[in-house]
Amino acid sequence: MLDKVKELITEVESFNATTANEIETFRIKYLGSKGIIKDLFTEFKNVPNEQKKEFGQTINLLKNSAENKVTTLKEVIENAVEEKGVYGDLTRPSEPIELGSRHPISLVKNQIIEVFNRIGFTVSEGPEIEDDWHNFTALNLPEYHPARDMQDTFFIEKNPDTLLRTHTSSVQVRYMEQNEPPIRTISPGRVFRNEDISARAHCIFHQVEGLYIDTDVSFADLKQTLLYFTKEMFGKSKIRLRPSYFPFTEPSAEVDIYWGLETETDYRITKGTGWLEIMGCGMVDPNVLKNCNIDPTKYSGYAFGMGIERIAMLLYQIPDIRMFYENDVRFLEQFKSVI
Ligand code: PHE
Repeated sequence: MLDKVKELITEVESFNATTANEIETFRIKYLGSKGIIKDLFTEFKNVPNEQKKEFGQTINLLKNSAENKVTTLKEVIENAVEEKGVYGDLTRPSEPIELGSRHPISLVKNQIIEVFNRIGFTVSEGPEIEDDWHNFTALNLPEYHPARDMQDTFFIEKNPDTLLRTHTSSVQVRYMEQNEPPIRTISPGRVFRNEDISARAHCIFHQVEGLYIDTDVSFADLKQTLLYFTKEMFGKSKIRLRPSYFPFTEPSAEVDIYWGLETETDYRITKGTGWLEIMGCGMVDPNVLKNCNIDPTKYSGYAFGMGIERIAMLLYQIPDIRMFYENDVRFLEQFKSVI
């Protein structure tokens, strides 16, 4: 009897399994409620008293070694599964490397910069947190000027005022203060306005503003530059300038391009007129030149400013400005093929 139990121990110790099923069969055979060990304990009462101690110890030994076997074999199998997860199927083709893409705002900004670079404009940048002078006063918008309401402002501090710039005209003021004419520069950047967010407006957006100052700069020069820009950017060669008002330019105008009325979308986005407004412009007010230490009797200049989002929405037919800021990969991925 005792020898039989010892034999069983050797059997258990030499047992090996490679699948979970095999281990389970083994467990049921030895440790199950109708298993060998259970039977042995039942037989225990028939063992003569003087053998009880040794017999009992040996069955316990068998029980422990069966239990250990089950635990170690299970671990081995689980580790094997994990390892498979790490290395996978080594003959499988590798995962494709996903290429990123530039954000449409960057794409359009770079495109605008490139168009103006070709006719000699440099790029200038400035701070997003501005003082009152560079965002308003120097631009012919003294304190309490009603036109300050044209751009709802996020103020950071009062007296002296610090604010989030409402346009990149502030960069042009800085540029004029630091450079002598001839000046030919564009200022791309992020701007902030305290406006309700909708499909067409956002409180954070991007602008490119342009400035040209030299002797004898005329409105005709401005118009020709804008025509060149619209041809290069949109492939459209008809523009019109509608009289408008900006405190820092005189005369001022809104620029419309003739988009056409060929498709239903053209009808919708131009509200049936065929014309689309794309930017504001004008001749730099002599007061602004004076504020920036440029002699208005010697020099004249033009300026213009446009929203990058608006241009991007037109170029790529994006219906809602909020899409630019949601960072939804399904949207961003569509710009992969554009350089
Ligand atoms: N700064 C104006 C704006 O943000 C745009 C503009 C720039 C208009 C230069 C005329 C000349 O609305």
